[in-house]
Amino acid sequence: MEALKGIRILDMSHVQAGPTCSQLLAWMGADVIKFENPAGDATRGQLRDVPNADSLYFTMLNCNKRSITVNMKSTEGKQVFVELLNKCDIVMENFGPGVLDRFGFPWEKIREINPRIVMGSIKGFGSTGPYAQFKAYENVAQAMGGAMSTTGVPDGPPFVTGAQIGDTGTGLHLAIGLLAALRQRDRTGKGQYVEVAMMDGIMNLCRVKFRDHQRLTRGPLAEYSVGTHKGMGAVPRAGNDSGGGQLGNAVRCKPGGPNDFLYIVVQEAVWNALAQRIGPEVGMPDLATDPKFAKVADRRANQNDMWEIIGEFALKYSKRELMAILNPLDVPCGPVMSTEDLTHDEHVRGRQMWVELDHPQRGKWWNVGMPIKLSDSPADIARSPLLGEHTEEILREVLGYSEEKIAQLKGKGAFSTPPKKAA
Ligand SMILES: CC(C)(COP(=O)(O)OP(=O)(O)OC[C@H]1O[C@@H](n2cnc3c(N)ncnc32)[C@H](O)[C@@H]1OP(=O)(O)O)[C@@H](O)C(=O)NCCC(=O)NCCS
Repeated sequence: MEALKGIRILDMSHVQAGPTCSQLLAWMGADVIKFENPAGDATRGQLRDVPNADSLYFTMLNCNKRSITVNMKSTEGKQVFVELLNKCDIVMENFGPGVLDRFGFPWEKIREINPRIVMGSIKGFGSTGPYAQFKAYENVAQAMGGAMSTTGVPDGPPFVTGAQIGDTGTGLHLAIGLLAALRQRDRTGKGQYVEVAMMDGIMNLCRVKFRDHQRLTRGPLAEYSVGTHKGMGAVPRAGNDSGGGQLGNAVRCKPGGPNDFLYIVVQEAVWNALAQRIGPEVGMPDLATDPKFAKVADRRANQNDMWEIIGEFALKYSKRELMAILNPLDVPCGPVMSTEDLTHDEHVRGRQMWVELDHPQRGKWWNVGMPIKLSDSPADIARSPLLGEHTEEILREVLGYSEEKIAQLKGKGAFSTPPKKAA
């Protein structure tokens, strides 16, 4: 937790896209102040599994942060915000379009207050263009950035992927932008505005699909298991095809449960060894030299037959047994691991990717660990804050407020939402 020591972040972000970014930065050592609406980040109460406790949705995305509640719709709350801006290196948000303008704090104003501050913004579609005014959630971004149209099988509907590439993926993009902007700030003394649109982030993650889109103007895509032809326009959905230069697919294993599959890449270099191992067991002792599969171009042209042969072999083994057969042959492969498999996996535990924590409201719980391993700055994962847990601490330590001043601001509703007036 040393890499970002001394960097303070005013984190106005909510839900998933922003909080995943600031959690990573906190794990790298930044002091992240989660600046919350007095009602709290909505995810605190969403998908609750323990009554009256912060939900896992919240706790898993907000570790190692401090929470302050400030009512930005009060004059005093806005003043606290301005003073915090002056004490921070980064301010970040992922509100819907126009929210910051309605607060009276567009980037131009924030820059005026603190010219050194770096501002990070996530929007569904960015601040320019015909879609700029639209809100977005994960799957909206997956739909609009090209991921859905290329996921699934050609004769089925488009599918979303379980990996949160729209939210967490955008958070990752933002983290990179913020760190680069900090580096420039350190050189020039000037902050800047870093914007990541979820749709843009998805397009970045679908880059190879746009490679194929352009290849289609010249001819078919020989490595696709589904039919393609020159000039067909949109890149088709291609099931579990590898999508790269090497053929790959998920083959069903024993005993045939929903996750009993091994993903196998038939790398050019391993065909001979693979075919020699598989061939005799499926009645094809000459598989390695069979002209239908001997060269990579033959295997591409006849890949559905090749997968059928590999599939016949695979059904005799469990995914783990098959992995044990193929690993010594240097065949790149991996079993489809369920969440249940992963949370019990020795490798995962050893790499601290499934970490046990404690929480005053919910007791013991688990979080996915820090995937970026810095040798001189290991993450030390601590629980998420309760709503407003650090309000007074931050006012005292960061802003130097006296007890009297805190009491006075409290009285004016700077840290709470006024109760609704009776109709
Ligand atoms: C995610 C999203 C759709 C949620 O929409 P939403 O729940 O309506 O939330 P918004 O961000 O639009 O609005 C937040 C409201 O809380 C209010 N609020 C936030 N912090 C506040 C504070 N500290 N004090 C007072 N009010 C506050 C805002 O003023 C706003 O109310 P307003 O519309 O009256 O101005 C929207 O925030 C969005 O599109 N974000 C950008 C894309 C994104 O990140 N999506 C992925 C989320 S995982």
